[in-house]
Amino acid sequence: MAQEVRGVIAPGKDEAVRVETIVVPDPGPGEAVVRVQACGVCHTDLHYKQGGINDDFPFLLGHEAAGVVEAVGDGVTDVEPGDFVILNWRAVCGKCRACLRGRPWYCFDTHNAKQRMTLTDGTELSPALGIGAFAEKTLVAAGQCTKVDPAVAPQVAGLLGCGVMAGIGAAINTGGVGRGDSVAVIGCGGVGDAAIAGSHLAGAATIIAVDIDDRKLAKARTMGATHTVNSRETDPVEAIRELTGGFGADVVIEAVGRPETYQQAFYARDLAGTVVLVGVPTPEMKLELPLLDVFGRGGSLKSSWYGDCLPSRDFPMLIDLHLQGRLDLGAFVTETIQLDEVEKAFERMHQGDVLRSVVVL
Ligand code: APR
Ligand code: ZN
Ligand code: ZN
Repeated sequence: MAQEVRGVIAPGKDEAVRVETIVVPDPGPGEAVVRVQACGVCHTDLHYKQGGINDDFPFLLGHEAAGVVEAVGDGVTDVEPGDFVILNWRAVCGKCRACLRGRPWYCFDTHNAKQRMTLTDGTELSPALGIGAFAEKTLVAAGQCTKVDPAVAPQVAGLLGCGVMAGIGAAINTGGVGRGDSVAVIGCGGVGDAAIAGSHLAGAATIIAVDIDDRKLAKARTMGATHTVNSRETDPVEAIRELTGGFGADVVIEAVGRPETYQQAFYARDLAGTVVLVGVPTPEMKLELPLLDVFGRGGSLKSSWYGDCLPSRDFPMLIDLHLQGRLDLGAFVTETIQLDEVEKAFERMHQGDVLRSVVVL
């Protein structure tokens, strides 16, 4: 029997979000219904509401979530009712050319639930990133559920489902940060701070945080930054070079998603160093660089999709490190809120007041 629950929808372009009754079908083959316990508010949810992702309104927002599996459909063997899970938005297929080459974190054919959740009048909802977890329950593909140790608080665990994993993975998976490395992180929001925490965890010796907001830089220090640079006041490229013996950092992580900060990252890395772009640009942005510099500076220029994470490998491992006290995921939760406070949380996010607001259900 389909169930009726409360969920936060974005009804139309730039319209305020609101709580509505939504209909969640029983899980079909390969699907699962999850009772959501917590879901973080991410920029991508705001982009959906603004019409910046696509026009498939109404959206069911929310995608950084943790909860308990309530029911599974036919053929589901990896999770069962009662499992505590983090939802991921890249359920790997196991069959595409990336998966077959043994690189499932690049999977080119990730999947979502086949059935649609609806409003009570039958209007089909588009779940944000195929999840839609600002809701008491949600329907996902079973592969989107990753089982982790239930000892962790849901509001902390859920954050690994998106921004925090993107940042940690940008450092550890994409950037390959290791012991003794110098790292610079440009943009210290939730994603950048997670890149700092990931670099710290990986043993980086120098971690330089760059932002235009001193509040963000103060927080970055608590996440593991050894130095901070306010790039409104100081040229960040020169500052990073000075802090790294005149050379530049081994790995520079761009966590803003703008051409000017990408250019800073490009020139702030050492010769043969690595640039990781984890900030997400918008379609009109263009980059111009002397091709000779691209050649002459060598190294690698990489993008990080979802931190190049493999949920089944990375989520349980990072939760275990958190539970052992080696990774403070709790530091990313600025506030917990109710389902009807998402609109307000968007405003606070926009003003830069929070790392993450988390809806607790
Ligand atoms: N130089 C340095 N820092 C900047 C600049 C700039 N020109 N412009 C903005 N910032 C800082 C902001 O002050 C803020 O601290 O970048 C940070 C961005 O953080 P958030 O807005 O909280 O965004 P976050 O959730 O961290 O995501 C960052 O990654 O996944 C993507 O879509 C996401 O593009 C976004 C990026
Ligand atoms: Zn695949
Ligand atoms: Zn997100």
